[in-house]
Amino acid sequence: MRISNGANQAKKTNIGIFGYGHMGQAIFKLLQKNQIGKQLNFCICSIGLKKIKNAVYLNSLEELINQSDIIFLCVKPQDFYNLKPAELNNKIFISIMAGVKIANVKKIVNSQSVVRVMPNLPLQVGQGVIAWFADEKKFSKNKLSLIKKFFFAFGYNFKVKIEDDLDKITAISGSGPAYVFLFMDALMESAINLGFSPQQAEAIIFELLVGSLKYYQNVKNIYTPGQLINMVKSKKGTTEAAFNKLNPKKFYKQWQDAILEAYKRAQKLSY
Ligand SMILES: NC(=O)c1ccc[n+]([C@@H]2O[C@H](COP(=O)([O-])OP(=O)(O)OC[C@H]3O[C@@H](n4cnc5c(N)ncnc54)[C@H](OP(=O)(O)O)[C@@H]3O)[C@@H](O)[C@H]2O)c1
Repeated sequence: MRISNGANQAKKTNIGIFGYGHMGQAIFKLLQKNQIGKQLNFCICSIGLKKIKNAVYLNSLEELINQSDIIFLCVKPQDFYNLKPAELNNKIFISIMAGVKIANVKKIVNSQSVVRVMPNLPLQVGQGVIAWFADEKKFSKNKLSLIKKFFFAFGYNFKVKIEDDLDKITAISGSGPAYVFLFMDALMESAINLGFSPQQAEAIIFELLVGSLKYYQNVKNIYTPGQLINMVKSKKGTTEAAFNKLNPKKFYKQWQDAILEAYKRAQKLSY
C-alpha cells in the first residue's frame, strides 16, 4: 500500500510512528491537531493494532521505513533491541526511547540521521519538556526545521550539549510527571483523611496546584519559590506547623538523592 502524495498535497511529509502506546498516541494526536498536521500524512505500525482513523496501518518497521520520510521510534527499548536490523536507508529517525544511545539506534535502523529525544507525557497537551540531541550535519536544513517545529508543538524544547545530558533529563522531566502525580496523590489522600469526599479532594488539590502555578507564572520575575513559601508561612502559623513535621532540609535532600538515583539508573540502562 502506498501513501497518497497526489498533486493536491504535493508538499506533505509522511510521518511514521513505530509503537502506538502512550507516547506514540500522544505524538500522533498532538501533531494531527496542530497546525503543522496539515502538512503531514501518517502511517503507524504497532503490535495488536489494525486500524487507526486518519492514518495508514502498516505491518512492519520495514514497510514503515519504505513509506515514511520521518519515523518516530516509540517502542520500549527491549522491544527495539529485538528487531532485525533494517536495510540501509537515508530516512530520518526520531527516537524517544529512554536510554537507547544514538549509536545503537543507528545499528538497527541503518540510517545516519537519528535524533534522540527525551520527552514527557504532558507532550500530549503540547506542554511537555522536550530535550533533544543530534548531529545536525546529518540533516538537511528543511528537515531540521520541520523537526524543530514538531518539538515546538510538543512544548518547551531545547538541545542538550552532550548525549549524556539526556539521561539527566530522563531523571528530572522524563520521570517528572510521576513525581508531580505522587505529590498530588499524597495531598488528595490527606484531604480524604480529614473527611472530604474523593471528588471534593480531587477538585481541591487540582485547583490548588493549577492556581499556585498560575500565580507563580505571574510573579516569577519578582519572587523566587523560596520567597513565595515565606509569604504563606507565617511565624507559629499552620504552614509552619506542617513544615516542622515535614522537615524541609530532609525533604530537599531526599529529592536530590531520589533524582540522582533515577539519573544513575538511566545511565545504567543507557547503552
Ligand atoms: N511513558 C512515558 O512517560 C515516556 C516518557 C519518555 C520516554 N518514553 C519512552 O517512550 C517509549 C514508549 O513508551 P510508552 O510508555 O509509550 O510504551 P507503551 O505504552 O508500552 O507503548 C509501546 C507500544 O509499542 C508496541 N510494540 C512493542 N513491540 C513492538 C514491535 N516489535 N513492533 C511494533 N510495535 C511494538 C507495544 O505493543 P504491546 O503493548 O502490544 O506490546 C505498545 O503499543 C519507551 O521507549 C519509553 O522509554 C516514555
